[in-house]
Amino acid sequence: MTKPTKTRRRILIGVGGGIAAYKVCSVIRHFTEAGHEVRVVPTPAALEFVGKATFEALSGHPVTTSVFDDVDEVAHVRLGQGADLVVIAPATADLMARAAQGRADDLLTASLLTVRCPVLFVPAMHTEMWEHPATQANVATLRSHGATVMTPASGRLTGTDSGRGRLPDPQEIALIGELLLDRPDSLPYDLAGVRVLISAGGTREPLDPVRYLGNHSSGKQGFALARAAAQRGASVTVVAGSTAGPGDPAGVEIVRIATARELAEEMTTRAAHADVVIMAAAVADFRPVSVADAKIKKGDAGPAPIELTTNPDILRGLVEARDEGRIPGETVIVGFAAETGDETGGVLDHGRAKLKRKGCDLLVVNAVGEGKAFGTEDNTGWLLSAEGAETALPYGSKTLMSSRILDEVRRLVPDSRGA
Ligand SMILES: Cc1cc2nc3c(=O)[nH]c(=O)nc-3n(C[C@H](O)[C@H](O)[C@H](O)COP(=O)(O)O)c2cc1C
Repeated sequence: MTKPTKTRRRILIGVGGGIAAYKVCSVIRHFTEAGHEVRVVPTPAALEFVGKATFEALSGHPVTTSVFDDVDEVAHVRLGQGADLVVIAPATADLMARAAQGRADDLLTASLLTVRCPVLFVPAMHTEMWEHPATQANVATLRSHGATVMTPASGRLTGTDSGRGRLPDPQEIALIGELLLDRPDSLPYDLAGVRVLISAGGTREPLDPVRYLGNHSSGKQGFALARAAAQRGASVTVVAGSTAGPGDPAGVEIVRIATARELAEEMTTRAAHADVVIMAAAVADFRPVSVADAKIKKGDAGPAPIELTTNPDILRGLVEARDEGRIPGETVIVGFAAETGDETGGVLDHGRAKLKRKGCDLLVVNAVGEGKAFGTEDNTGWLLSAEGAETALPYGSKTLMSSRILDEVRRLVPDSRGA
């Protein structure tokens, strides 16, 4: 499976009149640096926060807010029809209300009525505004019209407040935007009411107070799964070891652990209250038998051998817990296998054997080594199901791969669990 070259796409960035408008400059930069053609259409209120000159300089195109500018070009029709993706950020409560009603009282809302490409709203507002039934009804309407409305992040808001309603990280907005460009139907709102538990990153097994045995996992695949599941409406918890990816995904609870045994404890306890459990972490198979209280000194005798013992098999343990009724029988369990081929078989052969051994419902098989999978932005592999289906996961971003894995997960979750 080879890496396809990215094509230049036309992206319309609509900016609403919210305090987070300045952060959208980073989103514009991301798309222009990725080689896309970007047009920015702010609302008049957005220009109270960021000047037109900034948007013109960053996009390399003139900026206007009114349908009555450039009338000869009928700008709202040209911009809307020409776009491959629309990103509205920050999507203010007012802007979403106007868009939900189909108003066309400025260039941005008029353009929204002419687009036929994916539309991504990225809300940002105070928690009270976000939770207000009027806003929630508008969000539901926009989703019913086919738009993707991101779940806002939690954290510091304007002033001293904090809570749900923060604009997700610009990098996360860009990742979701790229996902919609790659696969417009990748984020249906079909996991509302589904509780998803994901392990991500690498474990670290201490040797002494300053050293550990670890691995190269960046947590990017686990975070990408969490990001996609949360944006599909799931309530997501990630138990994360060491990670090196972009910031924490918006709208996701993150629990930090260090060792394989801590991970096993968190996953086993939390799995009892999950509908889907995904083991995407790279778990150390072994740990040192003993951990020195003080830093191990160089000494004259040279390095002392490290005696290792086996860590618990968390994936197998979760399947056993389900078999024994300690977690609900309908819980969907997904494993990951990072494999290299050897003289006993190829990557896929090892994956098939692992699926049988572990007894999970789905197994994602990645080829690793030579710069593949660990720490990279993109990934490829196969999705094997206990029912015997084998699906190739074409080369693409880890977010794109996640959306394909979640399609399969959604199929296995009983309908009674979803919205
Ligand atoms: C300092 C300040 C910050 C604001 N921040 C937000 C915000 O983050 N989210 C929001 O929905 N409205 C916010 N508002 C209110 C909007 O600016 C107002 O509703 C405006 O009509 C939105 O216009 P729009 O539809 O062009 O976005 C803010 C207003 C002020 C004065």
